[in-house]
Amino acid sequence: MGSLTVRNLSEEVKKRLRLRAAANGRSMEEEIRLLLAAGAAEAPLAARASAPPSKPAPSEAAARQVLLIIGGGIAAYKSLDLIRRLRERAVAVRVVMTRAAQEFVTPMAVGALAGERAFTDLFDPASEFDVGHIRLARDNDLIIVAPATADLMAKMANGHADDLASAVLLATDRPVLIAPAMNPRMWLNAATRRNFARLVADGVLTVGPNAGEMAESGEAGTGRMAEPLEIVAAAEALLGATEEKPLAGKRIVITAGPTHEAIDPVRYIANRSSGKQGYAIARAAAAAGAEVTLVSGPVTLPDPPGVKTVRIESARDMLRAVKAALPADIGVFAAAVADWRVAQAGEQKLKKDGSGPPRLALTENPDILATISKLKQQRPRLVIGFAAETEKVVEHAKAKLKRKGCDWILANDVSAEGGAMGGDDNAVHLITATKGEPKVESWPSQSKDGVARRLVARIATELGGS
Ligand code: C5P
Repeated sequence: MGSLTVRNLSEEVKKRLRLRAAANGRSMEEEIRLLLAAGAAEAPLAARASAPPSKPAPSEAAARQVLLIIGGGIAAYKSLDLIRRLRERAVAVRVVMTRAAQEFVTPMAVGALAGERAFTDLFDPASEFDVGHIRLARDNDLIIVAPATADLMAKMANGHADDLASAVLLATDRPVLIAPAMNPRMWLNAATRRNFARLVADGVLTVGPNAGEMAESGEAGTGRMAEPLEIVAAAEALLGATEEKPLAGKRIVITAGPTHEAIDPVRYIANRSSGKQGYAIARAAAAAGAEVTLVSGPVTLPDPPGVKTVRIESARDMLRAVKAALPADIGVFAAAVADWRVAQAGEQKLKKDGSGPPRLALTENPDILATISKLKQQRPRLVIGFAAETEKVVEHAKAKLKRKGCDWILANDVSAEGGAMGGDDNAVHLITATKGEPKVESWPSQSKDGVARRLVARIATELGGS
């Protein structure tokens, strides 16, 4: 069925539809669709039989829907091929073009290839009535930004929303895959490096850029947009991952980040944990369909979409929040919990009163992993701990597994050479002891997202999922 042209309705009808939609908390398009469905159900059968057989709209026919945002760069010509390649694979493609993108390829060409018109303006009443930028942001399984220009990346990294593309990217809760493309010097510029790192930390997925000759004559280096088939491969992996829900119906509680233990109202004991690994596990578990509670110490990471994030400060708060999240099928304890806290934290700021430094008596914090592992009631079926070691990693982790009473331990090397602390990569050993003697699997060094996906896949297998 073709898309509705609300424009052609009378102003009076449009006004009534708008009021109806607002009163019901729906978009115009949704309201119209529901009205049509109700009308069709009541219409006499003869009238329906005489109507020509309707072809499903692209989004109904295709199981997967992608929103492609085309930025303004010479590589935009490759995005036309990308649309074709995606549609060949039964992926419906809806396209948003920036103003600059229209200097390189026309909305007409894009619309012809996508099978529906390209969206270009934030304040275009026709697109707001037809779809609306919030629905553009949400009614898809994946957003691809290709080419992701330096300017578009800067806007994304800083949360701008002054055109349709950036507003959609700010409003979305879908996975976002960017294919950067720019001049090599722009790619190497400190601002672009900062923006790219920010986007990766925000959970944006990336493909490319590749190295090689640039479209501008005489220029070479890193900055070429990934080829359409590379982007398709990255998109298919993500679309597959979002389709498969091996942890659907499972509840998982995850701890992440450091804890802060008060010395007085302004000072605290902390550690260098970034929370990245725990957050990555939360994202992977949510993508696998689990109901996720993430209990997080103070970190600078944003709440992962689709995850209930509970922010706490101290180890004792963390234990309380974990218990409140039970019952759960799985517990993953990735937080770097402070082992000790100050026995009597000052109620007022400690003063330098000339009598020398204060004596801070320390007391032990509760061990959250051990406490949950040893629960008689409400113990999750699978309890997974982490071990950060600087030497004899596997040996120490095996001992820890026994001592804490958990089922699995993911051990990583946090010596200066290991680079796990605060870094983006992690080389881990998985020690499992669900059945008999501990077994060790050593995983190759990979991104923390990679470790998270692999762990989630192992959990799904263990619990009898796919
Ligand atoms: O004893 P250690 O700190 O090396 O153990 C690490 C594991 O124990 C991690 O999984 C960590 O989240 C967990 N842990 C905890 N509560 C503590 C200390 C550690 O849950 N107080």
